[in-house]
Amino acid sequence: MREQAITVALRDWYMVHARDLPWRVGPAARLAGYRPDPYRVWLSEVMLQQTTVAAVKGYFERFTALWPDFGALAAAEDAAVMAEWAGLGYYARARNLLKCARAVAARGGFPDTEAELMELPGIGPYTAAAIAAIAFDEPAVVMDGNVERVMARLFAVETPLPAAKPALKSHAARLTPGDHPGDHAQAVMDLGATICSPRSPACGICPVMEHCAARAQGIAAELPRKTPKAAKPVRQGIAFLGRRADGAWLLETRPPKGLLGGMLGWPGSDWAETVPDGTPPASGDWRDPGLEVRHTFTHFHLRLALRVADLPENTEPDRGLFVAKHDFRPSALPTVMRKAFDLARPLFDRP
Ligand code: ADE
Repeated sequence: MREQAITVALRDWYMVHARDLPWRVGPAARLAGYRPDPYRVWLSEVMLQQTTVAAVKGYFERFTALWPDFGALAAAEDAAVMAEWAGLGYYARARNLLKCARAVAARGGFPDTEAELMELPGIGPYTAAAIAAIAFDEPAVVMDGNVERVMARLFAVETPLPAAKPALKSHAARLTPGDHPGDHAQAVMDLGATICSPRSPACGICPVMEHCAARAQGIAAELPRKTPKAAKPVRQGIAFLGRRADGAWLLETRPPKGLLGGMLGWPGSDWAETVPDGTPPASGDWRDPGLEVRHTFTHFHLRLALRVADLPENTEPDRGLFVAKHDFRPSALPTVMRKAFDLARPLFDRP
C-alpha cells in the first residue's frame, strides 16, 4: 500500500538523516531505550511556534540552563523570563509559557495525553499533538507548515491553503504509524525543513520521490497553493529614548495584555493609522533626529519615529523608570525596541 511504503521510507531516512537538535532524542538513542524529557519537548515546541530551528537553539540552551525543569521555571520571576525571551517574538507565548509551568506545578505533573495537554495555557492543537507524539509516543497527527507542504506535494493537493487544511490533515493521519509516531512526526518535519523546502525542493535526493504525485506532475515547487492574503496596513508611532546624565535609560514595562505585553520598551505614543502626537515621558530637550524604525508584526507594518534627549540628573519622569547603565541589557528588549536603541545609540554622547 502506498501509505505504508511512504511511512517506511520516511522511517528509514530518519534513522540515518535525523537532525541533531538539543531537545531531541535521536532514533538511535531512542532504540537504546532513551526517552525525551517532556519538559524539553514542551519548551522547544512552544519556542518553535512561528520561529525557525536556527533562531530557537540558543534560546533553548539558555532557558534550560537557567530553568532545567517545570518547577524551576514555575518559580522564576516574570521579568527574568520575559527578558530571556526577548528577540524571539510573539510575546504572548512567553507569558503563556510561565502560566503553563505554574499550572503544571499546581496540578502536580505534566499530563501525557493530547486532550489533557490542550487544556494547558499556550498549548494549542499543534503543540499538544507534537508533545503527545514526541514525548509520549501517542499516534497524534502533528500539523505544521512543513507537514502541510509535504502532504500537499505527496498527494498533489491543489486546493489552496487554508481551505486545504482538513484534506492535508487526513493525508497526514493515514501516514501516521502506531509505533514510534514521534519519530514519524519529526521525520516529516525534518523532510519539510531540509529537502521538501518551500521554493526549490531537492526532489532528486528525496526518500519518497517515487511516491510523490506533485513531482510526477512537475508541480512540486508550486505547492501548496495559497489564497492571497490582504495587504498589511501601516501604523505609525513615536518612541522616546531618553538618557540621564549618569547613563541611566528611561524605560517602561508595557502593560501585561496586548502586543509586546509585559516586555520592556521605550515609552511612546499609541500606534495608529496617522502619526499620533506623542507626549514625552519626562520634560526635557527632546530632539527629532529624523530617524524611523520599521518593523513588521503579524497584522501590520509599524513605522516608529524616534525622539531623543539627554536628560539632567534630577529628572523625575512622568512615565516609566530609569534603568541604571549597568543594569540595562539591550538583549532584554523586544526586537522593535532593540532596533530603536541600535539606531539612536550613536546620537548620545559616549560613554
Ligand atoms: N519544528 C517544530 N518542532 C520540531 C521538531 N521537534 N523537530 C524538528 N523541527 C521542528
